[in-house]
Amino acid sequence: MSSETTDARVHVTFELPTGAAAELAATGLRTSVYAGPTGEPRSELLQNVQGASGLIALLSDRIDAELMDAAGPSLRVVANFAVGYDNVDVRAAAERGILVTNTPGVLDNATADLTLALLLATARRVVESDRFVRAGNPWQWEPDLFVGLDVSGGATLGIVGLGRIGMAVARRAAAFDLRIVATGSRASSAEAAALGIRPVELPELLASSDVVSLHCPLTAETRHLIGAAELRAMKPTAVLINTARGPIVDELALVEALRDGVIGAAGLDVYEWEPAVSPGLLTLPNVVTAPHIGSAGLATRERMGSLAVQNVAAVLAGQPAVTPVAVHA
Ligand code: DGY
Repeated sequence: MSSETTDARVHVTFELPTGAAAELAATGLRTSVYAGPTGEPRSELLQNVQGASGLIALLSDRIDAELMDAAGPSLRVVANFAVGYDNVDVRAAAERGILVTNTPGVLDNATADLTLALLLATARRVVESDRFVRAGNPWQWEPDLFVGLDVSGGATLGIVGLGRIGMAVARRAAAFDLRIVATGSRASSAEAAALGIRPVELPELLASSDVVSLHCPLTAETRHLIGAAELRAMKPTAVLINTARGPIVDELALVEALRDGVIGAAGLDVYEWEPAVSPGLLTLPNVVTAPHIGSAGLATRERMGSLAVQNVAAVLAGQPAVTPVAVHA
């Protein structure tokens, strides 16, 4: 370990899961940890990052040029505790010679599990039914009590952005006998073909799917990918699931579409102005909400933490990062 490494300090903007925290301690690197309630205030982060060589950050931390300059020339690696890294200005990082890493591959199953949970809960009106029973409403078995969308055997699932998580969703959907169509570079892969996935363009996916599930990253190109026109292109009974990033959907257009019966229902784990949720969504019965818990499994969170620590330790030891993010031209 070089003397530069020995002196290096890693700032962590949250309390890492126990195992990952032990892993970080075992590296011998000096650390500073923000231990307050989640969400290190910006002013504190700008101070605490000064002179740090590594930074382990949350998706809710804005890692921009201002923050990198506040850290100063010592900063060599930003490890995002998430697979998505739209909160990091990767270009500004590249300009300053700072490596950015994320946590791909360790949360696909957890996120796919939650996607299926939202899909089933929304299509089969589980949360509405739960509220109804708890409210003490009188009921008896009735042919049309909380009738929803048949998921198994015949419904079509449209996966927007078939990547690792989308593929994990597809594997689960195949077990439900869903027909699957998808967009994205992997939609034409052998693995996709083996799962019976048909590659399509977005307009066909929207028009033919009973359930549309979003799995693309948030980029300038995918911001508001689903707006009023795309919602109108969907079936009036369609269910929209978003476990990716909120701003991929125009949330105000979604509120209107759900309210006016343009689409049938939505299952949402992410929001355009997170952690704020458009009030309109909260009053609609055909919406199931979760507070961005796609990767919230105990072992998954440990794996995310471990990967972030490994990335920081590798870079500060002068080795290649384990999972660097690509900087596109
Ligand atoms: C991610 O990793 O990008 C998820 O949104 C949170 O785990």
